[in-house]
Amino acid sequence: MALLEVNGVSKHFGGISALDSVSINVDHGEVVGLVGPNGAGKTTLLQCISGLLPPDEGQVSFDGRRIEHLAVHDRCRLGIRRTFQKVELFPGLSVEDHVLLAYRSSRPVGLTLVEDLLGLSGWTDDEKEAASDALGAVGLLDHAKSPVESLDLGRSRLLELARAIVGEPRLLLLDEPSSGLRNRDVEAFAQLVSGLCRSRNVAVAIIEHDLDLVSRLADRLVVLDFGKVIASGETRSVLVDPVVREAYLGSGEARPHRPVAVPRTDTGGPPALSFAHVDASYGPYRALFDVSFNVPPGSVTALLGPNGAGKTTIARIASGLIHPSSGTVSIQGATVQSSRTWKIARMGVTLIPEGRPVFGSLSVEENVELSLGSEKNRARRREAVERAWELFPRLAGRKRQLAGTLSGGEQRILALARVLATPPRLLIADELSLGLAPEITDEVFEALRAVCERGSTLLLIEQQVERALGLADQIVALRSGRVWAVGPTSELADVVRADLVAS
Ligand SMILES: Nc1ncnc2c1ncn2[C@@H]1O[C@H](COP(=O)(O)OP(=O)(O)OP(=O)(O)O)[C@@H](O)[C@H]1O
Ligand SMILES: [Mg+2]
Repeated sequence: MALLEVNGVSKHFGGISALDSVSINVDHGEVVGLVGPNGAGKTTLLQCISGLLPPDEGQVSFDGRRIEHLAVHDRCRLGIRRTFQKVELFPGLSVEDHVLLAYRSSRPVGLTLVEDLLGLSGWTDDEKEAASDALGAVGLLDHAKSPVESLDLGRSRLLELARAIVGEPRLLLLDEPSSGLRNRDVEAFAQLVSGLCRSRNVAVAIIEHDLDLVSRLADRLVVLDFGKVIASGETRSVLVDPVVREAYLGSGEARPHRPVAVPRTDTGGPPALSFAHVDASYGPYRALFDVSFNVPPGSVTALLGPNGAGKTTIARIASGLIHPSSGTVSIQGATVQSSRTWKIARMGVTLIPEGRPVFGSLSVEENVELSLGSEKNRARRREAVERAWELFPRLAGRKRQLAGTLSGGEQRILALARVLATPPRLLIADELSLGLAPEITDEVFEALRAVCERGSTLLLIEQQVERALGLADQIVALRSGRVWAVGPTSELADVVRADLVAS
């Protein structure tokens, strides 16, 4: 009998069948990869195993015992731990506090609960030791006392992992744990997970769109599509299965460099965006040092650099979300470094930020409608909305669904559809492909290409470097808050690739 046995689990949301009679097993010390297109039901399956969602039908057994009736915390005490696709941390608490709280809540309830409620109990030495072991394992010991707000996305993911592994995990449910990690952290993560499986016999079910990682880690793969298991078996054979390639993998790789075919109207006019000697800080932390570069109108510029290099800070400054401490920022020749966000938006600048950039409590259709702003002409509004459904037909069937209930990847697609309904003059896309399945990543990059060919300028921040290089005319390369190279893709691509591998 396997440690985890899921039999015939179904879950419906209104007319949507998120899971349709899904069965999977995960045994002691085994890593099972869960893959499939965006919206396939992967996260829903983990929710049904961890207890966040009750299945409509089917059974979930752990260590020979039925658990579908157990609450999340009871399953956690049995050793079932999870990380979330969207990192869930508590602002105001330190890194170490997060792990201590996770450890305590995974232990049997004793007197400490009463003491906790009365605010009397401090952390015991045993708890502190367990927390520092877990933080040490993920390489965050130096950040133990820092507030969680100071962590970038990659480190926040590592903290989530520390919370999942503290104490005695028996089954880890990991939802896209590598998304946002640096190359070197992905490597450390892979070693940590294999080590836990080998030395402590921990079982792992991992959702991942990074196929290199999943093929290295997973003994077996289960592929979901439209809520059904469409393939399962030994990792290598599943990855070459034609059904899986058709449903999930798409081209699976970046196309060779094919610059956007824009009729260059380089009239010698001002750059679409210009940074001159820009410095920026978050409190005492200095994020940018003397940053200068130009984005020519109609071009695609890739802003490349390791995590923490300052790319998102540049995106925030360019869209007016934060202001630099010194230097000049101009859009089409007008200085904007002190301008408010709405003013910059009116100049035709749109940012698709990291994370989930949609209005969760509005429907899919309302999200698209909102992006049309002050456009009064009804025919033009209708045309723009229709364009969004055409670009991403999978959203057309979801017009009334609340955007917050879309899957992680579907939310990113909606964010892009909103923007592309009325292409902006300057589009800044921050890690657009995070959490996208390979086949939809192809679609997304083709949609970006189309938007550039209609005349938009694009500033692209992208972890999938080859995808960005396939589109970009120009590279701005960053390291530790400084620009170290600016130039045409054809000249800089190799040296920037080498720098990123080394970082
Ligand atoms: N609360 C909900 N109400 C309505 N539909 C929902 C709800 N939760 C999930 N869904 C739908 O169920 C389907 C499965 O979603 P799920 O989050 O499990 O997908 P996923 O495979 O994890 O996708 P991704 O790779 O994008 O994260 C999606 O189509 C999603 O829109
Ligand atoms: Mg998901």
